[in-house]
Amino acid sequence: MAMQTLTITISYEEYSSIDELTPDEQDLCREAVKAMANSHSPYSEFRVGAAVRLQSGQVVHGSNQENVAYPSGLCAERVALFTVGSTYPGDKISTMAITAHTDHFKIMNPITSCGACLQVMAEFEKKQSDAIEVLFYCQNGSVIKAKGIESLLPFAFAETRLKK
Ligand code: THU
Repeated sequence: MAMQTLTITISYEEYSSIDELTPDEQDLCREAVKAMANSHSPYSEFRVGAAVRLQSGQVVHGSNQENVAYPSGLCAERVALFTVGSTYPGDKISTMAITAHTDHFKIMNPITSCGACLQVMAEFEKKQSDAIEVLFYCQNGSVIKAKGIESLLPFAFAETRLKK
């Protein structure tokens, strides 16, 4: 077959401020801010916080944990998600909020997760067979909301690829 150009459309919501979110979503964004307190980021001096709300109501924090051997560090999102997997197995994730701060400049837009973190989010979504809502919260500006990981990583590696 001749070459074709295909298009994937993804959708997400953008809110001009945290005030436009539901009270629960606002709370989770504030939890992400609190989570940054335990960031270990002496190398990048870029603090990231993640807060995950489980269906039971439990909130789990994660923050970026860097290492002098740079690739040994881990992003805030995966720290939070792996904590959920290891500590609250079976409790589904409903929402995740992510934020960042650095003393070096004012962050004016939400930071969005790296590909490796998105792939891990995709795994959790598949495991629980319910969508995970993700909020990218900028403390000086807007909030991006995605209603599932497919909107963020439409080409996620999937288990079907491991089979013939
Ligand atoms: N980082 C995160 O924690 N999450 C992201 O989504 C992107 C980057 C961390 C990794 C590193 O500690 C610092 O931010 C700078 O890249």
